Amino acid sequence: MSNLKACIFDLDGVIVDTAKYHYLAWKVIAQKLNFDFTEIDNERLKGVSRMESLDILLSIGNINLSQSEKEIIAEQKNNLYIDYINNMKPDEILPGAKEFIELVRSFGILTALGSASKNTGIILEKLNLAPLFDAIIDGNCVLNTKPNPEVFLKAAERLKVSPTDCVVFEDAAAGVIAAKAAGMKCVGIGSPEILKGVDLIVSGLDKMAMNELLNLQMDFYFDFNPTEVELGRFSINPENVENIPLGI
Ligand code: BG6
Ligand code: MG
Repeated sequence: MSNLKACIFDLDGVIVDTAKYHYLAWKVIAQKLNFDFTEIDNERLKGVSRMESLDILLSIGNINLSQSEKEIIAEQKNNLYIDYINNMKPDEILPGAKEFIELVRSFGILTALGSASKNTGIILEKLNLAPLFDAIIDGNCVLNTKPNPEVFLKAAERLKVSPTDCVVFEDAAAGVIAAKAAGMKCVGIGSPEILKGVDLIVSGLDKMAMNELLNLQMDFYFDFNPTEVELGRFSINPENVENIPLGI
């Protein structure tokens, strides 16, 4: 039987097409600091908090700044990003995202948002997405951000379900690590070259089939360590235990 009780969705790059805005805003900052910042570099920033993203960006540009300078730059990046998201339109909800979450809910499975972003509220309100979730955990609710599992563990706690009964949907390598560290199954949204260690990978939620989701939680562990008595039931000689056919 499936133990699937909840699905936890990342926001940027899974539900809404905002990963590109984070990238564009950081690219402007890199240009101001006189170095090039590529889409490949940007993969390292996905899923990671704003200040940690800035630290990675500065390490790519080989630049050292004081804490107060970093805070100014992080605010500049955020202002650029907020300008982008304030102009978002409903067609920037990624294909199939809303429909898939509604389908999941129609199966009685709980849904939560698990995002590193502190701008989650703006996006959810602008696109009226909040009613899709039973719980919303974002960058304002956690002390440790992905790859730390806190955001997903808090979502499970809020939903009152066990982490092992949850499936996470993630587009960022840091998010996949966080989901696995939380003991959850993880569906990667993106390409297999970037998202290692996922249980399933699809290009987008429009390509996610409900039966594939349910199958993810159908695994069971055949943890059968037979005693002599149990072996007697099957009339098996313990010395031949390694030769027991799998179908027994
Ligand atoms: C994540 C993004 O969802 O949120 C990261 O993938 C971003 O790229 C992080 O750095 C924090 O976002 P914000 O909106 O709080 O700056
Ligand atoms: Mg993301």
